[in-house]
Amino acid sequence: MRLVVLVSGSGSNLQAVLDAVSAGTLEVQIAAVGADRPGTGGVARSADAGIETFVVNFKDYATRSDWDEALLAAVAAYQPDYVLSSGFMRIVAAGFIEAFPGRYLNTHPALLPSFPGAHGVRDALAYGVKVTGCTVHIADAGVDTGPILAQTAVAVRGDDTEESLHERIKVAERELLIRVLGELTA
Ligand code: GAR
Repeated sequence: MRLVVLVSGSGSNLQAVLDAVSAGTLEVQIAAVGADRPGTGGVARSADAGIETFVVNFKDYATRSDWDEALLAAVAAYQPDYVLSSGFMRIVAAGFIEAFPGRYLNTHPALLPSFPGAHGVRDALAYGVKVTGCTVHIADAGVDTGPILAQTAVAVRGDDTEESLHERIKVAERELLIRVLGELTA
């Protein structure tokens, strides 16, 4: 399975995928890792691992549709079987979804359809839920919407902060992501 991974941040979930690939427990080929801005940890980690990287910097494009086109061209050039949004904090255009039908995956730190968006952990904590978790799903052109592939529940503790809860969710999220990718390659 050829995979292109998109990141906007530190890429700690991506690191777990890289580790599973190098340990031989996950048989995917990471064709490239791309970001929407320069200086992400995700791109740095990938470059360290000898993986091709690219940046389609949102701020370099005059219009949203110029950026959409550039992102699609950059990803499509690698002819991926699947594209994974691993902390990629931008909604892709409908044309992107059409180019990779059922093959654009996203991981989210909440039990969707609850708490979509950029602050899934903060919003769940603020609401006062006692159980939250993580979701891996096939993404459509909405905000964290599309068919759910797998979820893991994570209990919220009374003394949790956004950071402590997100860290515990990420432990579950990494395991879930690697399991789902493994199932897709089977
Ligand atoms: C992950 O928890 C991912 O689910 C979340 O960003 C984090 C990225 O962490 N994505 C979203 O919130 C998407 N709505 P990482 O860069 O350390 O892997």
